[in-house]
Amino acid sequence: MPDREVDWPAYLARFHAERPGVVEDVLSRSLRSDHNPYRWLARAVSADAATVVDLASGSGPVARELALPGRTVVGLDLSAAELGLARRRGAGPLVRADARTLPFRDGSVDVVTSALGLVVVQPLAAVLSEVARVLRPGGVLAAIAPAVRPLAASDLRRLGQLNARLRGWPRFPGPVELTGFRRTLAEHGLQAVEDKRERYRYTVATPDDAWLLLSALYLPLTPQSRVAAAVDHLCDVAERRGPVEIAIPVRRLVAIK
Ligand SMILES: C[S@@+](CC[C@H](N)C(=O)[O-])C[C@H]1O[C@@H](n2cnc3c(N)ncnc32)[C@H](O)[C@@H]1O
Repeated sequence: MPDREVDWPAYLARFHAERPGVVEDVLSRSLRSDHNPYRWLARAVSADAATVVDLASGSGPVARELALPGRTVVGLDLSAAELGLARRRGAGPLVRADARTLPFRDGSVDVVTSALGLVVVQPLAAVLSEVARVLRPGGVLAAIAPAVRPLAASDLRRLGQLNARLRGWPRFPGPVELTGFRRTLAEHGLQAVEDKRERYRYTVATPDDAWLLLSALYLPLTPQSRVAAAVDHLCDVAERRGPVEIAIPVRRLVAIK
């Protein structure tokens, strides 16, 4: 169900104008063995994909991860601040546009990627309809999205303690778990070929680590005092017991037109 309590377009515009790059800064430090979720997403893209569009590209982590000689990766986002940072961090070409009305010709793109974009840009059906339009036949949609599993019992305890300080979970404009995704894809002529989950971990050793993590979460209804209480809690645990691992479950979805 869409979240009707929050003016999401206004919240997202302000969040990304004030904190460009913060999502990348957290996810790029979220590790599973030797890699982060952006590298995992990039692994779903075939080496011969010549034209890639990254939707809701933010500060450009996916575009940079996918850069190859002979390949064009276009980063597309609504936020001027995110795109400005993407440019400074070396991503390009970049387009300021709405993911619900893509400025590309029908059938002109080999691969569309998105890191978290499918739970942010709503309604999802409008995005998928545009993705299906711009992909060539046989083209691929590869996306990563937040997930609620896999989580160990200790992860649930730790997240429960944070939740108690925040008095609420982080939210997204769309459902955190994309349900019925296979059917929604099929309705747009896209066939799901992969749906995998992995647990990444973000380590909090210092107050800066804790602040960075909390500032990357969408918490539109949470007062700053509760965010500060969550940071204090993490710092307290890190001081008493050493670095704290926060589980970040991620889902990777791949579909073919
Ligand atoms: C959670 S961030 C993810 C950014 C980037 N993919 C990353 O992983 O760092 C979501 C991004 O969606 C962008 N966004 C929100 N609504 C959008 C829309 N309608 N069209 C294009 N981008 C949008 C925001 O500006 C923001 O950069």
